Amino acid sequence: MTEPLIQLSGVTKAFAGVRALVDGALDLYGGEVTALIGENGAGKSTLVKVLTGIHAPDTGSILIAGKPVSVTSAADAERLGITAIHQEAVVFDDLSIAENIFVSNRPRGRFGTVDWAKMRSEARRLLHELEADLDPDLPLKSLSIAQKHLVQIARALSHDARLVIMDEPTAALSHREAEDLFRIVERLKGEGRAILFISHKFEEVMRIADRYAVFRDGAAVGAGRIADTNTEELIRLMVGRSVDQIFPKIEVTPGAEALRVEGFSHPTEFDDVSFSVRRGEILGVYGLVGAGRSEVMKAVFGITKPSAGRLVVEGQPVRIERPADAIAAGIVYVPEDRQHQGAVLKQSILDNISLPSLDRFSVAGFFNRTRERAVADALAKRLQVRMSGLDQLVENLSGGNQQKVVIAKWLATEPRILILDEPTKGIDVGSKAAVHRFMAELVAQGLAVIMVSSELPEVLGMADRVLVMARGRVRRTFTRAEATPEAVVRAATDA
Ligand SMILES: Nc1ncnc2c1ncn2[C@@H]1O[C@H](COP(=O)(O)OP(=O)(O)OP(=O)(O)O)[C@@H](O)[C@H]1O
Ligand SMILES: [Mg+2]
Repeated sequence: MTEPLIQLSGVTKAFAGVRALVDGALDLYGGEVTALIGENGAGKSTLVKVLTGIHAPDTGSILIAGKPVSVTSAADAERLGITAIHQEAVVFDDLSIAENIFVSNRPRGRFGTVDWAKMRSEARRLLHELEADLDPDLPLKSLSIAQKHLVQIARALSHDARLVIMDEPTAALSHREAEDLFRIVERLKGEGRAILFISHKFEEVMRIADRYAVFRDGAAVGAGRIADTNTEELIRLMVGRSVDQIFPKIEVTPGAEALRVEGFSHPTEFDDVSFSVRRGEILGVYGLVGAGRSEVMKAVFGITKPSAGRLVVEGQPVRIERPADAIAAGIVYVPEDRQHQGAVLKQSILDNISLPSLDRFSVAGFFNRTRERAVADALAKRLQVRMSGLDQLVENLSGGNQQKVVIAKWLATEPRILILDEPTKGIDVGSKAAVHRFMAELVAQGLAVIMVSSELPEVLGMADRVLVMARGRVRRTFTRAEATPEAVVRAATDA
């Protein structure tokens, strides 16, 4: 039996009124990938923050190679060889790549001054090892999310980290970028480092992890070898019951056309895009990351301006110059990047949900607080937001629960046309089923839904028709019957 490199036990952590960890325990082994799984709000990111010195635990112990250590600051963690790619990127956008890699351990010359030349050449060498030949002088903000991950991994290597933690690293990556990341994970593992990998995607977990650890309600509820388990068992441990992963498609006879997009073009992002969606219909929009799907939807919602094309809503041509025009026409867009574009972190859940619907809660100049609360409460329950109450600040919610609040906020406006961009990204399996069920009921009530998704099972399971985009153009539209996995993927990848 190999000994664990790092052992956490009896870790507890409470935030004003919220018990985030009640019995955190975890064993991590050198040269192995351990997947940490659990529902939104189960305490995964909190455990990561305890391991990296961001949060001090209330109780509990951490042993490294059998010896107790205390991690009371980020500097402690780095000194002990623990580094993380956090769920919310902790990077410095205005600093250069090299400065980000050596943020806390800048190489110094003889007189204690920063040795910039050495810092650059070391940065270049570390990035080259990761097959990322980026110019170390570039500001971080010019990079893609995948490249930012690489910079953080380079930072880990610069500390010769023993433990590399990745908190939902693939949530915002394309398929190819995720594959590149997995190769790096294999490599870090081969070098004997321990990897802690957090993900809501079971295919990934089954594929790259050697071990699993499951958290439920802040407590470790199971751990073992991946080879000895299967997805169903992991889900049961996570949720405490079995979850129907079948998509709750309700057959609806589509009604009149709700939205038609004609000849939408943009100088760089998309070209001559046309499609329509009817009431009672879910139009799935599939494509690889970068195919132009979100850009088209942002143009429909008035965030960006198309250079050509027109929009017809319920038979009437409409001009949409800004999001307010779209909302007035009954269209809402729930963005993919909900953390940055979607939520006001410093405000309460209630204020976030009701923000775009304030008019709806006012009658004859009087604001109806009771109604505001009732609507927000009903939506939060439907979407299974795990919170201490509607007055909790959004920044204190777990990542997946922040995502749900943004969906709730746009649903509260009672749109007639709902555009959802990657609706279940970062959302756990149990809540995912709730989101899908909710979506099915909304279309049964006559809503038209456009669902942009990179998850093939979600698209094939939920959509009535599937529109496939590649390189800014519509490649094909499939009926539900025609949409086989092979045909849809082929349309998305054909050169
Ligand atoms: N700073 C904070 N103040 C108050 N509560 C917090 C704070 N940070 C986390 N929490 C609460 O602790 C619980 C665990 O959150 P955590 O972020 O660890 O969940 P998670 O397992 O990472 O979920 P997800 O899959 O959604 O990312 C949640 O109920 C969350 O609201
Ligand atoms: Mg988290």
